[in-house]
Amino acid sequence: MWLGKYILFLLCYSLAPSLADDEVINNKYFPDDFMFGSASASYQVEGAWNEDGKGENIWDHFVHTQPELIADKSNGDIACDSYHKYKEDVAILKEMGVSHYRFSISWTRILPNGTADYINEAGVAFYRNLLNELKSNNITPLVTLYHWDLPQVFQDQGGWLDDFMIERFGDYARTCFQLFGDNVKYWLTFNEVKQTCLLGYGYGTFAPGIQQPGVGDYQCTHRVLKSHARAYHIYDDEFRSTQEGKISIVIDTNWLEPESNSTEDITATHTKRQFQFGWFANPIFHGDYPEIMKTRIAMRSELEGFNQSRLPEFTQEEIDYINGTYDYLGLNTYSTSIIKAIPEADIGVPSWDSDAGVFRIPIGRLGRFCHRLVVPWGMRKLLNWLKENYNDVDIIITESGYSDDGSSLDDPRRTSYYQRYLSNVRDAIDDGVKVFGYTAWCLMDNFEWLQGYTQRFGLYHVDFNSPNRTRTPKSSVAFYKKSRYLPLSCRYMCVRIKLVLFIW
Ligand SMILES: *[C@@H]1O[C@H](CO)[C@@H](O)[C@H](O)[C@H]1NC(C)=O
Ligand SMILES: *[C@@H]1O[C@H](CO)[C@@H](O)[C@H](O)[C@H]1NC(C)=O
Ligand SMILES: *[C@@H]1O[C@H](CO)[C@@H](O)[C@H](O)[C@H]1NC(C)=O
Ligand SMILES: *[C@@H]1O[C@H](CO)[C@@H](O)[C@H](O)[C@H]1NC(C)=O
Ligand SMILES: *[C@@H]1O[C@H](CO)[C@@H](O)[C@H](O)[C@H]1NC(C)=O
Repeated sequence: MWLGKYILFLLCYSLAPSLADDEVINNKYFPDDFMFGSASASYQVEGAWNEDGKGENIWDHFVHTQPELIADKSNGDIACDSYHKYKEDVAILKEMGVSHYRFSISWTRILPNGTADYINEAGVAFYRNLLNELKSNNITPLVTLYHWDLPQVFQDQGGWLDDFMIERFGDYARTCFQLFGDNVKYWLTFNEVKQTCLLGYGYGTFAPGIQQPGVGDYQCTHRVLKSHARAYHIYDDEFRSTQEGKISIVIDTNWLEPESNSTEDITATHTKRQFQFGWFANPIFHGDYPEIMKTRIAMRSELEGFNQSRLPEFTQEEIDYINGTYDYLGLNTYSTSIIKAIPEADIGVPSWDSDAGVFRIPIGRLGRFCHRLVVPWGMRKLLNWLKENYNDVDIIITESGYSDDGSSLDDPRRTSYYQRYLSNVRDAIDDGVKVFGYTAWCLMDNFEWLQGYTQRFGLYHVDFNSPNRTRTPKSSVAFYKKSRYLPLSCRYMCVRIKLVLFIW
């Protein structure tokens, strides 16, 4: 085990430098209306897991019943205590000078039983207060409806493996539009369907921990995509004309780069991009799952003795309903993976990985060893690929960021990450990609799912030993704050100019 990690560590570091050759930091200003923001998610920051009438969700249940699955056996019961400290959160957003804040609504905080027939007023008041606080500080909200915290009561009935969820999600979305829609212009239905379904219902490493690889993940995605479309149409039919907002979904992917220029590796990379991104994006942007997924999963399912493909099919009616349900695209991206072709996997236990049939060498964010590695040019390539393949859509990066162990307030590596990634975003704007915003993940250290509090992505440090959960800016905050107004390359020179002026 130890040796394995050591080899992985060497591999990560030996591959890294060759990727950063002749890197030039873009020296142009961002457009004035480019949105600079930061983000959080309800379960990761709110705490107050059972206060004021909130119902139990699948992450509450998961961490309480299987604490050993979390690196430090911790949970989000208190987390950053944002439920009580939302004013401090808005104050640090203000201090950082952001134009927007992406947060998510906890379903069971406003609908404790999951269903829309009983609304918990205390939960509604919390989000109203947060939205009002943002408004009075001139910060635009981007609101995610579902960032992984499904009502446990629905999981007990099958969760995303069952069709009843589509109407339940529709009802929840409608409730949110009704309650908060006057103050929200950017809605996001789901955060990262891939993690929701592949980890939640395929490999089973995330809540709710269902292990049905190659089956549950596809079934879950099928329901989630239909639920997304349901919410989109509800917004379109009932709210858009009066609330005039926009609605979309968050899809996550690393940039995927072939290991060599061999036809095999290039084909494998195209395939993997479809399995990793097209799986979710193609139904929404083009009407159906990618052809390569349909073919490969049908082929392997047959060899495995299934009487039909493990990838469910959309009816023509469903295709028409899902096709085009986006007003923009929310993109979460952290790093790049290198893709290599391998021989067809043996027929055995089905899985999404075997269905994709390629080998992925993670260069970027791999658990606790590779996550320090950054591949900034992957951002520019990814944005250009999205422009080309997804209808030249307006894109906002809804997550991008860097993690460490949180031991220091001085975090030059995080600063460097933002400088170099933002530089590639700026390059992509020059390339003609319609990217209109960047959202740093994340505002403050928080409950990082399976990593608990051992992995920290925050621009602000949070003292989890203090009942006050004191927020303190890391050194990267000063850089991020300046990025909005100054060229990224200006990092040191700007300080000098200021000094000269001061002396003069
Ligand atoms: C909904 O939840 C509330 C509060 O937990 C409870 O009192 C009520 O009985 C529930 N209603 C239904 C229909 O389950
Ligand atoms: C593939 O070919 C391109 C263009 O000829 C070249 O720039 C690139 O370095 C090659 N990649 C690899 C991994 O050899
Ligand atoms: C999805 O909509 C586009 C644009 O209207 C159309 O060209 C395409 O054929 C539709 N896709 C399917 C699978 O029907
Ligand atoms: C295929 O098998 C499943 C059970 O594994 C069964 O429920 C289903 O009806 C079968 N479908 C067809 C088309 O035979
Ligand atoms: C918590 O905050 C209160 C009020 O600001 C302050 O009086 C107290 O000293 C703080 N406690 C800690 C442990 O930081």
